Amino acid sequence: MKALVLIGGFGTRLRPLTHSVPKQLIPIAGQPMLYHVLDLLPPDVEEIVLATGYKSETIDAFVRAHPPRWPVRTVPEAEPLGTGGGMKNAGGDLSDPFYLLNSDVIASADLGALRAAHAAHGGLGTMALAHVEDTRPYGVAALEGNDRISRFVEKPEPAEAPSHWINAGIGIWGRGALEAIPAGRPVSFEREVVPGLLERGVYGFRLARYWEDAGTPERLLHAQRLLFDDGRGGSGSRPKGSLGSGPIAAAADVVAAGASFGPYVTLGAGVQVGAGAHVENSVLMDGVRVEPGAFVSGCLLGPRARVGAGHRLVGQTIGEAGEV
Ligand code: GTP
Repeated sequence: MKALVLIGGFGTRLRPLTHSVPKQLIPIAGQPMLYHVLDLLPPDVEEIVLATGYKSETIDAFVRAHPPRWPVRTVPEAEPLGTGGGMKNAGGDLSDPFYLLNSDVIASADLGALRAAHAAHGGLGTMALAHVEDTRPYGVAALEGNDRISRFVEKPEPAEAPSHWINAGIGIWGRGALEAIPAGRPVSFEREVVPGLLERGVYGFRLARYWEDAGTPERLLHAQRLLFDDGRGGSGSRPKGSLGSGPIAAAADVVAAGASFGPYVTLGAGVQVGAGAHVENSVLMDGVRVEPGAFVSGCLLGPRARVGAGHRLVGQTIGEAGEV
């Protein structure tokens, strides 16, 4: 089977960081979000097709420089085509069926079991579903006893939501789904296409463990905690001469003697953290400098951002080369 990964969105909710860094290349728990998503794929996947748009060249260059375990190909969109348009644009050569993944969902999901469930019910599609309290930002499924989806409502008001089971952004679809997408214009697969496919058999696959949509700073940092707690936090060791406890993932060349780290921190290449500074629950991308005595908690700091001496920074997203 091949896998189609949707990776063309603008990542507006993570601005200003996403002005220069595509969302999927933001490192969490030691590696870019995209690679945590790809890690879910079984080893026998034949090819990964990345449906790109915004910052396509950056993503293409990155996957060439850091090849994943599977052959990978990018298919860019000249104009944003939405999720369905992106599928149509990139889907010409896909297998039948194919995996469909959003590139910004962090989950514990057994895609081998998803494939087995898809084969067993014989429908057109199988959507992994996550259980959430607040369904408002998501597509919500109404399920029959055998987990067949009888209704699918995108971003309903709470009173209209048929359940708390939402589209987890992970699924398997037959090529018939691609054929149902109108060509040549932007299309939302979830809003415009999925409801019409239900009569052909679309089933839910309930995720039992964790799931997070890493599209906002708070959720991205929550996703990082989930990954660390699940032992998926990369192989980096604690910077020499630093203090603290809890999981962190640090590049080999980080300089942080006399600094301390709380749990859940990713430190990119060339990061420098001064003596007496403390960093917790944050992502510091390549070349970030935190001056002595500063305090950083719940922050996303873009490449080469700088936090001044003694500064206290809580819950902030700072873009590339930003200074505070
Ligand atoms: P926000 O702008 O912050 O909402 O983020 P986003 O642009 O990534 O949108 P959203 O999180 O809703 O997108 C869900 C998934 O679809 C992500 O994996 C996106 O990269 C992808 N996606 C969204 N729009 C497009 C598009 O026009 N083309 C392609 N190929 N993928 C898209």
